[in-house]
Amino acid sequence: MDRSDKPRVVLGVSGGIAAYKACELLRRLTESGHDVRVVPTGSALRFVGEPTWAALSGNPVTTGVWEDVHEVPHVRIGQEADLVVVAPATADTLARAAHGLADDLLTNTLLTARCPVVFAPAMHTEMWEHPATTENVATLRRRGAVVIEPAVGRLTGKDTGKGRLPDPGEIFEVCRRLLARGSAPGRDLAGRHVVVSAGGTREPLDPVRFLGNRSSGRQGYALARTAVARGARVTLVAANTSLPDPAGADVVPVGTAVQLREAVLKAAEDADVVVMAAAVADFRPARYAQGKIKKREGREPEPVALVRNPDVLAELSAARPRPGQVVVGFAAETDDVLANGRAKLARKGCDLLVVNEVGEDRTFGAEENEAVVLGSDGSETPVPHGPKEDLADTVWDKVVHMLNAG
Ligand code: CTP
Repeated sequence: MDRSDKPRVVLGVSGGIAAYKACELLRRLTESGHDVRVVPTGSALRFVGEPTWAALSGNPVTTGVWEDVHEVPHVRIGQEADLVVVAPATADTLARAAHGLADDLLTNTLLTARCPVVFAPAMHTEMWEHPATTENVATLRRRGAVVIEPAVGRLTGKDTGKGRLPDPGEIFEVCRRLLARGSAPGRDLAGRHVVVSAGGTREPLDPVRFLGNRSSGRQGYALARTAVARGARVTLVAANTSLPDPAGADVVPVGTAVQLREAVLKAAEDADVVVMAAAVADFRPARYAQGKIKKREGREPEPVALVRNPDVLAELSAARPRPGQVVVGFAAETDDVLANGRAKLARKGCDLLVVNEVGEDRTFGAEENEAVVLGSDGSETPVPHGPKEDLADTVWDKVVHMLNAG
């Protein structure tokens, strides 16, 4: 691909210790065919030097507005960009961007860019929670920027808390989706709280064994990631997944169906949307053996008695803890996919049901799938074979339509 054909991304880097993680984001962007121009702030260069950014991007690196003036870089870089991502975004950079300052090349670029803009903040918890930062973030979001919530974890030094830069791979996914959706960032879930369940529950038999299923959680994670990109506050209730936390989502890990129910119902209290993408076990062992079940010579094993688990989707659909809440279910079917899907939609009482055809090699754990989205209004939307993010975006399109109509 010629450089001019490649999507143009500006990677703004501000002066925080997480600047070194932006090298990984840069590598992912260039390796996936983007032309990346790195625009660090002066203090970013104290953490990672200019040669690193130049070598990894293959482009010149400048921080001020007084270099290459004949090319008018302070205007041109922003105007020509298809996406600007600032990672890490410090409290100072967020403040300067929110107030429209233009004292270096990055802030000039932010003022001239008309493409989607993503900020991935990283700072100490106190700075993130300070009212000044809160107001600056709200201002940037109101103007259409995507500000990814920082992750919770180890910060510089000994302390832990909210303020870590999210996983660079996950920041990359947010960028990739925004580029795929074109220049108008779909901020149509801004101000909404969405709850997504993902993964598969495990029902313990004894301290070492469980009844489980083959759900990887990928579809639920794609839903969480795309909802973040569309501006939502996202709670992801994750049952036994081994995927990196989607950038910006609040992840609540759970194990069993009963724990999942508790976490989903709690998060649903103030949610506009609940999407039950998790594979929840319908049954659990009636008895949990405190000690490991041992084989006994000459004796057949005891049969495993099962009891029903609560049906979280049906319970939520009936209760609707918040008026106007939209509830979405998933159905995995092996035969009579549409007829079974329709019957399940009616039985569960949800607004939308995403019906997948599953088999040993289909859907579970795969990167792609195809499905039909059934609506309680009788609508039927086929989603062709493609990335799980495409299916996720179709679900959000329909959800947004229902929220706006309600
Ligand atoms: N679900 C749930 N609680 C359960 C079982 C399932 O909330 N105890 C939700 C799933 O998250 C999914 C939907 O219900 O959104 C459909 O799950 P599925 O297992 O396909 O439906 P079942 O009711 O179990 O129907 P059947 O086993 O008869 O196919």
